[in-house]
Amino acid sequence: MSIVIAIDGPAASGKGTLARRLAAHYGFAYLDTGTLYRAVGQSVRAAGGNPADPALAIAAANALDLSKIDEAAIRTREAGEAASLVAVMPEVRAAILHFQRDFALNPPGGKRGAVLDGRDIGTVVCPEADVKLFVTASPEVRARRRWLELKGSGSSVSEAQVLEDVKERDARDAGRAASPMKPAADAHLLDTTDLSIETAFGEAVRIIDKSMS
Ligand code: CDP
Repeated sequence: MSIVIAIDGPAASGKGTLARRLAAHYGFAYLDTGTLYRAVGQSVRAAGGNPADPALAIAAANALDLSKIDEAAIRTREAGEAASLVAVMPEVRAAILHFQRDFALNPPGGKRGAVLDGRDIGTVVCPEADVKLFVTASPEVRARRRWLELKGSGSSVSEAQVLEDVKERDARDAGRAASPMKPAADAHLLDTTDLSIETAFGEAVRIIDKSMS
């Protein structure tokens, strides 16, 4: 049986950076499940469609080819928005559920464990995960982190606009009927508002080592 670490949390909470570092630390495989939703949303956009159109989004989810993901295109602000629009559709979620579970149970590269990050890993994708973390930070701090990232990749969006996006996305992700974003009952909460990446990482390792000992 593989060891599964589930990391959930809202946009720009730091869960991706944390998850990647934890996977390297423990020698586990890593899956950023947001990539899958971003790829579905971006594939609809790239074909000129509206990601809120269920027929288009479901067809894109069923045809998803991970080898064809355009890393730069899926990291834009628009792709993040499209991801959260397609993510409300249960059929889209169902289409990529099996891939996520299979990754957790049979981590690629013969690794003995997997770290998955997303919104519903601890609640729906891997409810049996060995350790669950729910990573948060204040909307203002998250907006600043995301704004700096976007600016670094050449976007001229304002910080105020990014804060608005973050709040809108939180409301949609937490308010949807299908697999809403919420901490699992047995998740450890990690608030990174005032924590550096280093400190957050140290705290996560402490929680995980304690849970697995
Ligand atoms: O990086 P950021 O936190 O902004 O977003 P992401 O993790 O790449 O996820 C993009 C969107 O996909 C989220 O706003 C969710 O709507 C959706 N998502 C989801 O519903 N379930 C997941 N397990 C992962 C992402």
